[in-house]
Amino acid sequence: MLGSRHSRDRCFKCYFCLVAYATLIFFIFTISVFIFWLIFLPQELKFTVTDASLTKFSLTNTTTNTTLYYNLALNISIGNHNKKVGVYLSHIRATANYGDKSFAVVNNISTSFYQGHKSISTVRAVFEGHQVVVLEELELSRFNFERRARVYNIDVKLGLRVKARYGKIETGYLSPPNVDCQLEIPLSSSPIERYVGAMFRLTDCGGVALPLLVP
Ligand SMILES: *[C@@H]1O[C@H](CO)[C@@H](O)[C@H](O)[C@H]1NC(C)=O
Ligand SMILES: *[C@@H]1O[C@H](CO)[C@@H](O)[C@H](O)[C@H]1NC(C)=O
Ligand SMILES: *[C@@H]1O[C@H](CO)[C@@H](O)[C@H](O)[C@H]1NC(C)=O
Ligand SMILES: *[C@@H]1O[C@H](CO)[C@@H](O)[C@H](O)[C@H]1NC(C)=O
Repeated sequence: MLGSRHSRDRCFKCYFCLVAYATLIFFIFTISVFIFWLIFLPQELKFTVTDASLTKFSLTNTTTNTTLYYNLALNISIGNHNKKVGVYLSHIRATANYGDKSFAVVNNISTSFYQGHKSISTVRAVFEGHQVVVLEELELSRFNFERRARVYNIDVKLGLRVKARYGKIETGYLSPPNVDCQLEIPLSSSPIERYVGAMFRLTDCGGVALPLLVP
């Protein structure tokens, strides 16, 4: 009788200890994360399309298929506005879409590079070629409307692998969700024509969150 109460007490004690330790660890962890945030204040990496040229965007209709011919170039700026965090970027992939049809993909638009704190880098994406596309009626009527206006809505998605450097500590590479650039690009038949009439407006694509301290 006495023995069993004793062991129940002991069990209660060790259970209590376990909870106390878990709580303590949880608090230390939370406070460390908070201090980490205060020191580094990690901000998103920002993507902006600063310039775009579209010199070809046409559909040819044959008996067997519809082919899209395209020639599109983008200048994309990547802003690291962090005061104390550096980033490594690699495998930057650009996918061009019309409606929800993707018509061109470029893997590795740039070699891997390191981007220090408070800096902006520029990468270029060039899509040139042709692709058989199957457009729905709605997409086709939009295409015809945009052909008359000579301004096309093209959606460019950017994917990448990113690693952050906090002081001397580096995280592992992560693949954040794609960045989405919804572009409205005037067609130009010559480089000079790009600076008359409808001009490309700088387009904000949003950003990606930096990986936190995971190896
Ligand atoms: C992009 O940048 C390059 C080099 O600075 C420049 O020659 C070009 O006109 C810019 N625009 C496009 C759409 O390529
Ligand atoms: C191509 O031809 C088909 C059949 O005549 C037509 O339905 C479709 O609208 C045409 N597409 C274009 C891009 O003109
Ligand atoms: C599309 O049609 C063109 C012209 O008929 C032909 O040369 C090309 O091979 C076709 N492409 C496909 C994927 O069927
Ligand atoms: C992209 O470049 C990296 C090295 O910078 C290379 O390891 C990788 O295989 C390349 N990927 C593609 C799809 O070309």
